[in-house]
Amino acid sequence: MSNELVLVLDFGGQYNQLIARRVRECSVYCEIKSYKTPIEEIRALRPAGIIFTGGPNSVYDMSSPHISKEIFDIGVPILGICYGCQLMAYTLGGKVESCEKSEYGKIEVESLGKSKLFDNVPEKSVVWMSHTDFVSAVPEGFAVTARSQDCPSAAFECEEKGLYAVQFHPEVTHSEYGRTILRNFLYNVCGCKGLWVMDDFIEKTVARLREKIGDKKVVLGLSGGVDSSVAAGLLSRAVGRQLTCVFVDQGLMRKDEGDFVEQTFTKLFDMNFVRVNCQKQFLEKLRGVTDPEQKRKIIGTEFYKVFWDKVREEADGGFFAQGTIYPDRIESGRGNEAGQGSTAVIKTHHNMVKKPDDIKFDGTIEPLADLFKDEVRQVGEKLGIPHELVWRQPFPGPGLGVRIIGEITEEKIKILQEADAVFRDEIKKSGAEEQLKQFFAVLPDVKTVGVMGDHRTYDHLIALRAVTTDDFMTADWARIPYEVLARVSNRLTNEVEHVNRVVYDITSKPPGTVEWE
Ligand code: XMP
Repeated sequence: MSNELVLVLDFGGQYNQLIARRVRECSVYCEIKSYKTPIEEIRALRPAGIIFTGGPNSVYDMSSPHISKEIFDIGVPILGICYGCQLMAYTLGGKVESCEKSEYGKIEVESLGKSKLFDNVPEKSVVWMSHTDFVSAVPEGFAVTARSQDCPSAAFECEEKGLYAVQFHPEVTHSEYGRTILRNFLYNVCGCKGLWVMDDFIEKTVARLREKIGDKKVVLGLSGGVDSSVAAGLLSRAVGRQLTCVFVDQGLMRKDEGDFVEQTFTKLFDMNFVRVNCQKQFLEKLRGVTDPEQKRKIIGTEFYKVFWDKVREEADGGFFAQGTIYPDRIESGRGNEAGQGSTAVIKTHHNMVKKPDDIKFDGTIEPLADLFKDEVRQVGEKLGIPHELVWRQPFPGPGLGVRIIGEITEEKIKILQEADAVFRDEIKKSGAEEQLKQFFAVLPDVKTVGVMGDHRTYDHLIALRAVTTDDFMTADWARIPYEVLARVSNRLTNEVEHVNRVVYDITSKPPGTVEWE
């Protein structure tokens, strides 16, 4: 896309995607590749620079990832981070030892002498360390450029060969000047110019899509999520009505969401928009089913069936498009052929597990396959996709189906949709929306006794769930202010029919999950 490429060689560290995102944030295009990528392939890609990631291992462990010495002679600047720094030292004849005590957390480092890497970085600054081994002697020809109390070579370099190493993690926000250091490597050392900008991406992608698609048709499964919406926007700009978007509304979306998606894509974009309304069919299949796994399975299978049946009607040859994004393609972890080539595997979390054999396409198109989520959002904004869609919080494939405990009925869906809309409205008004990664209402299928005027009531309980998280692997319940909870509770019991009690879920993950089913 841009002819300025930086490679992030993956040695299995936990922050590898973060490194790549930080590089992209500096307007430099980069890709993550396995450390096993042959040197010839690396050379052929003509990268402006290479970054070795961290990794969980010690260089002396024979099973830990190593790399041929040759990489240091191809004339491309390299920055080694954490394990990558130790590997550089070890491979080039330096010495790596175990620390007496591991350095972990925010640590002060002091820079020594002048280094292009530390331009505009104060002599003392805080960085994020996480290591047990350290470099006790740097290779010949290298100079130490920073130290911490427990790490005599927190950074070292051989300017002449363009080889740089830092024991700490500049990609982590806890490293005060981490971004400056990465930027210095990219601009001062590698000579990058910052050619990766989203306006260019849109222009070039649209041109490429036009060329590839020609006068053929394209079908895209639109879920109303961020990725498929942005893919739809790009494809619409490229080929207009040659694009057919199939949007399956199974009746388990949030209040008015189906209509909003339809209006957005029919009014703002040029395309052939096909909405399949199959609420009744789904309810029929789900009648009497209470087991969570069975519900999920039915919703998934039915979705898949309805979707492909519609595609079969709409598509005659042409291309199949989907909103795969870069993190969907990278298998992180050592030993995997990380980031090698594009996959044509259909995204499983959209429940479109497998294309039926009788449907034939000329190929698959994945216009967002090189982008991170934040870049996808930037593209979405630039394409004029509404804020609600571009910043939509994650929503499970089975929709409200996993938020209605027990049997799913039309009445319960209505109660939950109304309750969820009230909760979202109050959170939005409170200004807390930005800090919460996900928040929603749950209908636990519990009825409780209440009192309204002179009458006793026996009606539904609504549970509210709101979490803060970085990656959804772990999550904490959000400390929503009491006043906001009070307003939500008040409105739910007054405005939503059949709700007479409200509780707030204060379980973190683990041991709880974000969803209730
Ligand atoms: P859990 O409940 O596993 O949720 O802690 C973590 C994140 O995943 C979402 N989630 C799903 N997404 N299909 C999806 O596409 C599903 O079946 C599904 N189940 C959970 C959940 O909303 C949260 O963001």
